[in-house]
Amino acid sequence: MGVATFLVAVLVGILLLSASASWPPTPGPRIGGGHKISQATVNPPVPGEDKTYWREEAQETLRRQLNLTNTVRKAKNIIFFLGDGMGVGTITAARILKGSQTGRWERESLSWEDFPHSAHIKTYNTNSQVVDSASSATAFLCGVKGNLWTVGVDANVLQVNCTDALNETFHTDSIAKWFQDAGRSAGFVTTTRVTHATPAGAYAHSANRGWEDDAIMVKTGQDPDVCDDIAEQLILKDPGNKFKVIMGGGRQRLLPQSVIDVEEGVGGYRLDGKDLISMWKSDKDSKGVSSAYVWNREDLLALDTANTDYLLGLFAYSHMDYLLDRKPKMDPSLPEMTKAAIEVLRRDENGYFLMVEGGRIDQAHHENKARKALTETLEFDEAVQMALAMTDPLDTLIIVTVDHAQPLTINGYPNRHNDILGVGDVSGVDNIPYTALLYGNGPGYDVTEEGKRPDPSKLNLTDSNYRQTAAIPQSSSYHSGEDVGLWVTGPHSHLFTGVYEQNYIAHALAYAACVGEGLTFCDERKSNGTEGREP
Ligand SMILES: *[C@@H]1O[C@H](CO)[C@@H](O)[C@H](O)[C@H]1NC(C)=O
Ligand SMILES: *[C@@H]1O[C@H](CO)[C@@H](O)[C@H](O)[C@H]1NC(C)=O
Ligand SMILES: *[C@@H]1O[C@H](CO)[C@@H](O)[C@H](O)[C@H]1NC(C)=O
Ligand SMILES: *[C@@H]1O[C@H](CO)[C@@H](O)[C@H](O)[C@H]1NC(C)=O
Ligand SMILES: *[C@@H]1O[C@H](CO)[C@@H](O)[C@H](O)[C@H]1NC(C)=O
Ligand SMILES: [Zn+2]
Repeated sequence: MGVATFLVAVLVGILLLSASASWPPTPGPRIGGGHKISQATVNPPVPGEDKTYWREEAQETLRRQLNLTNTVRKAKNIIFFLGDGMGVGTITAARILKGSQTGRWERESLSWEDFPHSAHIKTYNTNSQVVDSASSATAFLCGVKGNLWTVGVDANVLQVNCTDALNETFHTDSIAKWFQDAGRSAGFVTTTRVTHATPAGAYAHSANRGWEDDAIMVKTGQDPDVCDDIAEQLILKDPGNKFKVIMGGGRQRLLPQSVIDVEEGVGGYRLDGKDLISMWKSDKDSKGVSSAYVWNREDLLALDTANTDYLLGLFAYSHMDYLLDRKPKMDPSLPEMTKAAIEVLRRDENGYFLMVEGGRIDQAHHENKARKALTETLEFDEAVQMALAMTDPLDTLIIVTVDHAQPLTINGYPNRHNDILGVGDVSGVDNIPYTALLYGNGPGYDVTEEGKRPDPSKLNLTDSNYRQTAAIPQSSSYHSGEDVGLWVTGPHSHLFTGVYEQNYIAHALAYAACVGEGLTFCDERKSNGTEGREP
């Protein structure tokens, strides 16, 4: 075709495009202040954000980036923060919620967002594109991907029956055990039951994450005399019985039916008559080490942590309460538990591995209750700040990552400084407002009698139990499969600068700390581990 014909064709194309209503897409009616629906289409910009502002802001970031150096010493300690279900949407939303409180709004940072290195993590496992917390824990703690719902075992073990998981050739050991094998300490803190999927990845080998006690095994046709339940593995088996710190909820799984729980007023779940809490205490007494069992906040805060070798804290019958439902007098916060854990573990001169899980971010999302999920995320942020304040970046690697995402998205074109938990925009099709946060699936699915979407501007969005709308009904949301984030600071943080498989995490951490298979690499380092070949 000649140049003239070509130009005519382009011109016609442009005319057709501009005549068409479908491209570029015109945004629907916009929300004015106070969530009043208006046809205003122009949002005023935030004052002061002209080109001078953006150039200076970027130049400052650049100066900080150019000043970065790699720390190539051996990591004496590793603190592993795991935000369960804390996908990228959750993080952006939590950042804006935090910013609404500080006045920095969208410019706010969560504590880990200032870390020098970060990565994207591919979470799929050996039989599923979308993972659960058990199989992902096997990946990031043991360095091996396995099947959905299994924990501490490789792909040879299907979630069928327990005998598959008895074969030790299929077992995967965790970085917590590698630390212990290297003569160092390990422990964990969670807001879920201590027998729940994520912590189980540090100590258990089970074909089913659900087998937290023997009663549930019997109920599901398993023989608890053949395979140990997860609570029993935690208290009686290696490496769980050597953990210096175990804190979270879940007394129901450790107590027999004959022992009445101190808060709940009912017996535990166990059929085998074992009181694993007193067995834990007598095991430590028999070893002549100092130990403490605490079940409420007051006792934890009063504890002489500097003289405690082993600490078991069980603060709830099941999971600990959500922050928004918590009885502050009875239940410690996640930062308080993190502080106590570090105080106990740092008594080991050789170093320690501590996992801290914000376990209920995920559970609030399962209920499609975004306000609860975001406030759990902000408490998790405070726990990270606590660890940063208590440790030295020259000897302590702090990592923050996520097991899997939840199907939460930020929708529409909300104005700057819009309440992230409020209405964000209005549909241009049905003219009904929608919240800025929406779920792909879950119990938030709802239709009115007229077959329409409920109008959230008429509902109480400040109620902590408000469920954001979900596209597909599920009684509890199913997870989502997009990549998750990883942020890291301290020795060897530069090992994380790209897109990685989730099981790489355990291997890189082992290298940084000279434990497990990382020992082989560390032997090759020029000196005694304080210097490396990098960069
Ligand atoms: C650069 O790094 C040094 C040492 O880590 C620090 O003292 C200094 O404040 C940093 N400068 C900037 C601009 O970040
Ligand atoms: C468990 O699996 C083994 C072999 O994989 C089989 O022999 C056994 O019958 C199964 N047990 C149950 C309770 O399903
Ligand atoms: C464990 O699995 C391996 C590999 O499949 C097999 O060779 C071995 O016999 C199994 N051991 C037991 C005790 O079943
Ligand atoms: C909305 O929910 C909050 C929190 O539960 C409550 O304090 C408030 O009174 C409720 N507002 C209305 C109008 O019901
Ligand atoms: C070994 O490490 C210590 C610090 O922990 C350092 O002072 C010493 O120089 C190192 N030794 C060698 C041979 O590099
Ligand atoms: Zn979940």
